[in-house]
Amino acid sequence: MKTIIEPFRIKMVEPIKLTTRQERERMIEEACYNPFQLRAEDVIIDLLTDSGTSAMSSEAWSAMMRGDESYAGARSWYRFRDTVTDIFGFKQVIPTHQGRAAEHILFGVMVQADSIVPNNTHFDTTRANIEYCGGTAVDLVCSEAGDTESDFAFKGNMDIAALEKLVAAQGAEHITIIMLTISNNSGGGQAVSMANIREVSRIAHDAGIPFYLDACRFAENAQFIHRCEPGYENTPPIDIAREMFGYADGCTMSAKKDSFANIGGFLCTNDADLAQRERNILILTEGFPTYGGLAGRDLEAIAVGLREVLEESYLDYRLLSTRYVVEHLHDLGIPVVRPAGGHAVYLDARRFLPHIEPLQYPGQALAVELYIEAGVRCVEIGTVMFGSNPHTGEESPAHQDLVRLAIPRRVYTQSHMDYVLEAINLVWERRAEIRGLRITEAPQFLRHFTAKFERVE
Ligand code: F0G
Repeated sequence: MKTIIEPFRIKMVEPIKLTTRQERERMIEEACYNPFQLRAEDVIIDLLTDSGTSAMSSEAWSAMMRGDESYAGARSWYRFRDTVTDIFGFKQVIPTHQGRAAEHILFGVMVQADSIVPNNTHFDTTRANIEYCGGTAVDLVCSEAGDTESDFAFKGNMDIAALEKLVAAQGAEHITIIMLTISNNSGGGQAVSMANIREVSRIAHDAGIPFYLDACRFAENAQFIHRCEPGYENTPPIDIAREMFGYADGCTMSAKKDSFANIGGFLCTNDADLAQRERNILILTEGFPTYGGLAGRDLEAIAVGLREVLEESYLDYRLLSTRYVVEHLHDLGIPVVRPAGGHAVYLDARRFLPHIEPLQYPGQALAVELYIEAGVRCVEIGTVMFGSNPHTGEESPAHQDLVRLAIPRRVYTQSHMDYVLEAINLVWERRAEIRGLRITEAPQFLRHFTAKFERVE
């Protein structure tokens, strides 16, 4: 069969409120042209994030009813821990309420004022948590990543030569952790190859630097390796995942992505002393080490989700349904990052709106227009998100201006995606009339969440 079907049936639905263009014009103006400030019920198709927005299965809901809410040593904790250990393989598992809490604890223990943390591309919270601890976050993604037209399968790879240069110049003394984000969310949701993970691990270990994976979308990354990397055609995603984690000393994980949970995360390491220091902070900020800010039922949902997300029929559908949107856009001549990533579609706003200069935020302007056109909510990943130095307040263009349409897992059908395609095409046809934006108010850190904008005349 050529038709890729959703490998599930829907037995509970949530109505979508339909709005008019006139209403949306007013609502986005009231939100100061920042889609984060909209009310979710005023959105028709919400592609703001794939984080915590997944549909859980009947199995996961059933498991939630079995949640053991004991404060210490709950049954649900052991189920969660054993599942994480089986797939991720690390000796120490620390539950947190979401991914950034894991980052905050990890960097709080490991990062000082002169610390450098290289990554393929840091996600916003990862970068902000490092900078908050006084460290420097460095992005070293491979050169192919900058070319949105290149169809290289592993554009999330680290630039190995650049990493070696940095390690030679700074050494283990300053580089406290080397990280790889799988898949590379801020870099277009692109996958990292096993060969690259292996190389980065070798460089880190030769220099005596701990190597961590930011594992949010590890299953999608594993499926890309399965589909595209020679030698892995016959290896099931779970074994690919185990091999990836086998090269690392630890990981941070947001269970809000590749485990279908609405909340949750964890931090792993093989280092018992480090884990002890991390647990000390965990108790202060998250909770006792057997629940870490989560209810027992959340631990159960994650344990089920981590198994389901590695099912090949699901991963096939997931990757192919994202590719469906990307390839249609490409066929329409619309600038989109290729090849398709797993969790999201990334429009290249600089090429979509070449008449808007980066410091007038073409990505933000495009996100605003998609909302006005059809009630589609998405997020700028570009100069608004990364263009401001929080310490000096200086602004410069980010290396790309993208708009991310993240696809919640198992939530929208193909007809929803056809609607999104039509909306993007309508905005594309009237692109010449779209104007840029200027910021009227913004906080020091993570400004994209709350910044206020107005239209440039
Ligand atoms: N790392 C990556 C690569 C992420 O994409 C995210 C979250 C985090 C860490 C933090 O995890 O949200 O559980 O605290 N990304 C979401 C997104 C918010 O929309 O891409 P969290």
